[in-house]
Amino acid sequence: MIELRELTPEDTGALQQIYSSESTRFLGRGPMNEAEALRYTSAAMAAAARTPRTRYVLGITVRAELLGVIKLDRDGPAATISYILRVDVWGRGYATKGVRKVLALGLGHLGLPEIRAKHHPDNPASGRVLTKSGFTPAGRVDGFETYLIQPPPPVPAVWLEAGPEQ
Ligand SMILES: CC(C)(COP(=O)(O)OP(=O)(O)OC[C@H]1O[C@@H](n2cnc3c(N)ncnc32)[C@H](O)[C@@H]1OP(=O)(O)O)[C@@H](O)C(=O)NCCC(=O)NCCS
Repeated sequence: MIELRELTPEDTGALQQIYSSESTRFLGRGPMNEAEALRYTSAAMAAAARTPRTRYVLGITVRAELLGVIKLDRDGPAATISYILRVDVWGRGYATKGVRKVLALGLGHLGLPEIRAKHHPDNPASGRVLTKSGFTPAGRVDGFETYLIQPPPPVPAVWLEAGPEQ
């Protein structure tokens, strides 16, 4: 079972393992060094303390071990998510579970009208994570495959009381 939690300065070593050369291949950046990892945790903690909060940089943990990061960024009503897992734990469903938890935060708790995401066309595993989580493909934009998800329409009150007519 995965958990999401805020980052702390103790996470710098784990972050460098997560942001390796292999896992950053399609992210338009290189691997993370120690100084950057320190700046990264400081920025994440500052974002967590800001009111209103517009940026969530959350650690993905399994049995208290930090294995990945998932981000939710709000810009007015628009919001995007992105995620990264340590390469040796790919293919275990952790990214999909993390995305589902962040959707509960964004579409549920925060009441956002829509969340968008994108991935490099040569990175189909990321697209699979998104479609498994309920995202709909929204076309290629600026060389990236884009996706969106909106909250399900509210259930009519009469259904809640009596259930839908058959
Ligand atoms: C993309 C990434 C987050 C996926 O994490 P993960 O925990 O392995 O994802 P999950 O296990 O939840 O799901 C992966 C799915 O992709 C599928 N997949 C893996 N490689 C694939 C490929 N080459 N083509 C198509 N699907 C692929 C898996 O089979 C799985 O789908 P399934 O459950 O239907 O079998 C991870 O590979 C990663 O961190 N990559 C580097 C960072 C990155 O690319 N982030 C996304 C930026 S947009």
